[in-house]
Amino acid sequence: MSAQIIDGKAFAATVREKVAGHVARLKEENGITPGLAVVLVGEDPASQVYVRSKGKQTVEVGMNSYEHKLDADTSEADLLALVDQLNNDPSVHGILVQLPLPGHLDEDLVINSIAPEKDVDGFHISNVGLLGTGQKSMVPCTPLGSLMMLRDHHGSLSGMDAVVIGRSNIVGKPMAQLLLGDSCTVTIAHSRTKDLPDVVRRADIVVAAVGRPEMVQGDWIKEGATVIDVGINRIERDGKNVLVGDVDFASTSQRAGAITPVPGGVGPMTIACLLANTVTACCRANGLAEPEGLTA
Ligand code: GUN
Repeated sequence: MSAQIIDGKAFAATVREKVAGHVARLKEENGITPGLAVVLVGEDPASQVYVRSKGKQTVEVGMNSYEHKLDADTSEADLLALVDQLNNDPSVHGILVQLPLPGHLDEDLVINSIAPEKDVDGFHISNVGLLGTGQKSMVPCTPLGSLMMLRDHHGSLSGMDAVVIGRSNIVGKPMAQLLLGDSCTVTIAHSRTKDLPDVVRRADIVVAAVGRPEMVQGDWIKEGATVIDVGINRIERDGKNVLVGDVDFASTSQRAGAITPVPGGVGPMTIACLLANTVTACCRANGLAEPEGLTA
């Protein structure tokens, strides 16, 4: 059997179209333009690429993009002062502080200084708690994008066995909460899990978010399972730099019913969901109806 490819690039384009439609309506009917502020501290090359891409896509869907680039040696007090200024700026509906931060800055302190209703990453402890208790929150973008693709593919996820490999605060834990919210039976596996292949073999849904290139093998996969590959790993193969996921695509696509490719799977959904979260935050801030199909 050869798996159906879940096309994240095409899916992300439809999410951006929906976002653009809502933005146009907000401008026309309410005179409001959603705004996203992105803060980058230092010159990490990968972060610079992400931030540029976020800014470009924000403008493409009709929103205002505010970029704040700070020197690598910016003090914590100065960064907190900027976050405070953005928290109090009514034209800013979403705030994202690009991670990782330079070592002298306390990431938890900075993230938790963002107003929770503007925390479009969904990393603030208030949003983590709201998600964990099934209340309305801002939901982290990569898990939200993964959930959207799973719902689109399956309709209802109720009663399915899901295994999330990886327990990060950014992907693994919120992904597990979202799947639980959709009535899956959820297992979180990690580096200390005993007999990982056996655990994965039980799953109707596998979400791989470990950051280890091509770790998940085809013979770990239940026939017909859906595999969401969150990994983005740059490796050298045959003298070339290539991007691969956390899943061995060649063997896994022979057993899975559906699979997200790398590149072109989960990756494009992350920024699309960031834009979706910004529109959602803008609607909530103005007491307006939230866009349908763009939240968890
Ligand atoms: N660095 C890598 N991915 C992300 C993300 O989704 N949000 C933030 N804030 N930083 C990141």
